[in-house]
Amino acid sequence: MTEKIRTAIFISGRGSNMQALINACKEEENFPAEINLVIANKNAMGLHFAESQSIKTKIISHEIFKNRLDFEQEIHQELVKNNIQLVCLAGFMRILSPWLVEKWEKRIINIHPSLLPKFKGANAVRDALLAKTKKTGCTTHFVTAEVDSGLIIKQSEVAILNTDTEESLAKRILTQEHLIYTETLKIVAENIINNNF
Ligand code: GRF
Repeated sequence: MTEKIRTAIFISGRGSNMQALINACKEEENFPAEINLVIANKNAMGLHFAESQSIKTKIISHEIFKNRLDFEQEIHQELVKNNIQLVCLAGFMRILSPWLVEKWEKRIINIHPSLLPKFKGANAVRDALLAKTKKTGCTTHFVTAEVDSGLIIKQSEVAILNTDTEESLAKRILTQEHLIYTETLKIVAENIINNNF
């Protein structure tokens, strides 16, 4: 049997990227990763799908901790308890501190809806439209303490149409996100198995 990297996904919302990753792991027999845990910082919509796939879920609400370190220590313990080797952020709306990021160096990846380094931050699709550029896209990258700035793994371009609204553009980008995030998880998991980093 193929070795599989034990993976956790962090979400805060609908979890369509999470769903794409879960499906990829299940559909391809030799996929080098498996999703063992989904963590949300609130009662996120995506948790229902994870539960329907019999994946362990856990809500760790940032609101009940007195500071970010306590919140992240709880997350870290949950990851360790479940023997997690890799974390995928998928619409997780909390910024991780250097403490957690350093503990999980090269073991946390993220997806962002722009061609980084362009349009960092929470309004990447709107910012691309407002900038009147001709193209935008999405990026997967390793997570570092500086937001949306770690080493880029994969990117996919999406043309901006004159008729685009934030919603229509976000929808086309999302289709690409699902593709590159799946490919990224495969690449990163294979590299961990081969001890490349
Ligand atoms: C995606 O656009 C992702 O790039 C960004 O947050 C959104 C999450 O969407 N980080 P979903 O919850 O995966 O559907």
